[in-house]
Amino acid sequence: MKKQDWLVDNNGVCLPLKILSIPSKTASVYRLYRFLTDLEDILETIQDDEKRLGAIAPLMRKLLNESPWLYLSMLEPNPDTGWEIMTLYDEPSFPLTVQLVAWAGGTVSPIHNHGCWGIVALLEGKEKNTFWRRNPQPNQPDKIEKVGEKILTEGDILCFSADAIHHIEAMGNQPTISFNLYGETDYDRRFEFNARENTAINF
Ligand SMILES: [Fe+2]
Repeated sequence: MKKQDWLVDNNGVCLPLKILSIPSKTASVYRLYRFLTDLEDILETIQDDEKRLGAIAPLMRKLLNESPWLYLSMLEPNPDTGWEIMTLYDEPSFPLTVQLVAWAGGTVSPIHNHGCWGIVALLEGKEKNTFWRRNPQPNQPDKIEKVGEKILTEGDILCFSADAIHHIEAMGNQPTISFNLYGETDYDRRFEFNARENTAINF
């Protein structure tokens, strides 16, 4: 993703910085297959999820900056469901899923965790993430409570631990499109939550 960089000049005027591109001998496009092999190296050398995320996020940033193909997809939300997924990579017996996901403006997702680490990079639109945590009570073991929220705009990257609980809302009228990357799902650990009825159901 191209983000505008800025320059404050000697007169204190803030101007768009003129980028000077220097010819490089290396490939200028970060291809998906290179991204995947870089990911494989990280997964083989780092076992801790949060450390993995710390190592993978810069690759996501590189992909946003150096992969124009990411922005060429014409993915649109399904009018019946309000969302659509395009799987870019999902190889059997290999713990990675790579997707483009579109949400129609105004759509709100169920509250859920993913049961694996995940990274979301917002390519288009504006997305509100609301974060929750478990707050078990003697008679309500699956009670959750709100913790906070974060609004993502184009170019933002958000990483999730396996038990991180959230729901998203596509803000405004325009669809959101995100590039999502997930590890290997532990389905026993993945839940959809109902905050009114205090339930958590595997999905
Ligand atoms: Fe999610």
